[in-house]
Amino acid sequence: MSELKNAVNWQNAQKLGDILPDVWKELQVKVDRMIEQIGDKSPHVAKEDGIYDDMRVDWWTSGFWPGILWIMHEMTGKEHYKEAAWEWDGKFEQKSIQDHNFHHDVGFQYLPTAVIKHKLTGDTDGLRRGLQAANFLAGRFNMAGNFLRAWNQDKHGWAIVDSTMNLSILFWAAETTGDPRFEHIGRAHADTVVEKFIREDGSVNHILSFDPQTGELIESLGGQGFGPQSAWSRGASWALHGLANVYRFTGDAKYLKAAQRVANYFLACLPEDGVAHWDFRADESLDNEPRDTSAATCAASGLIELAAFLPPSEGAVYRNAAERTLLSLTQKYATWDKPEHQAILLEGTGHKPAGQNVNVSLIYGDYYYVEALAKLLGWKQRIF
Ligand code: GLY
Repeated sequence: MSELKNAVNWQNAQKLGDILPDVWKELQVKVDRMIEQIGDKSPHVAKEDGIYDDMRVDWWTSGFWPGILWIMHEMTGKEHYKEAAWEWDGKFEQKSIQDHNFHHDVGFQYLPTAVIKHKLTGDTDGLRRGLQAANFLAGRFNMAGNFLRAWNQDKHGWAIVDSTMNLSILFWAAETTGDPRFEHIGRAHADTVVEKFIREDGSVNHILSFDPQTGELIESLGGQGFGPQSAWSRGASWALHGLANVYRFTGDAKYLKAAQRVANYFLACLPEDGVAHWDFRADESLDNEPRDTSAATCAASGLIELAAFLPPSEGAVYRNAAERTLLSLTQKYATWDKPEHQAILLEGTGHKPAGQNVNVSLIYGDYYYVEALAKLLGWKQRIF
């Protein structure tokens, strides 16, 4: 069936489950075309022309495109996805060595590439690169303040909520090597997220600055949100999904409760169609504020995770919310009727305060859309 015909039919669906198998079929057609269109590029952002850029390969987003391919490979068994995904972890490892540019987001890069590659194929280079990334991340831990420091340069005391999503590589390394140091560090940073990043009402800070000598919390910085006290939706989605992952690894209920607290605030702020605005406190009325489909997909995937850990009566609210969001994204924000468009979703927001990448397609929005749909279709592997 043509993409356009399907997309039109999908407009009438009331429930994602009614169209999910067809959506998944079309997604394969879409990703097959993306393989041709994207070629060797490392996609990050596609603007109005629908052409994905070619970002430097050591950028934090370089794992998401191959991550889509690895999920597709595992879901379908088709070799061409594996072939297209295979080289990526080696490419960005080399670039990071060459430019001395390993950073706090190695989890985003190596989990959906090296780690899953090792899990699915036994590849020993994947294992080595994954453990190297985990070692590097563990080395960023500051015992005074219990945080993984963000960025390089001179920001010794800065920590960001995004790092919650990188913690899975530490827990994976603990399981893989039997060395509990990785888990201790993962838990310690997660505790800081729970105690310092998440506010009373369930909204989250993006950047916190600590005194790197004493560990004392100095201040909240605005970062990619509207301001220091605002509620940047992608930051909330990193916390929600990330803490659900920490619960999966540790079984410690405090992380589950914290993920629920963030989820409850997130859900309370959503507009009718379930697709988040870029910051829930950008303005008194959000009507004219841009959406962020990447926050929507990452949160949806995290909500599915969360729902699975709870009794069905409690989890249903999260699962239903995830499905509502994914249905809206499928019906109103996707590029099914634009075969020349190289991304899956529209209307992502990268960094609005900096005027960067507003109302664009973002490769991590595409990744978490695929991840969430795969989970709903029974995919059992967990990358993050
Ligand atoms: N700092 C990563 C992000 O844009 O969410």
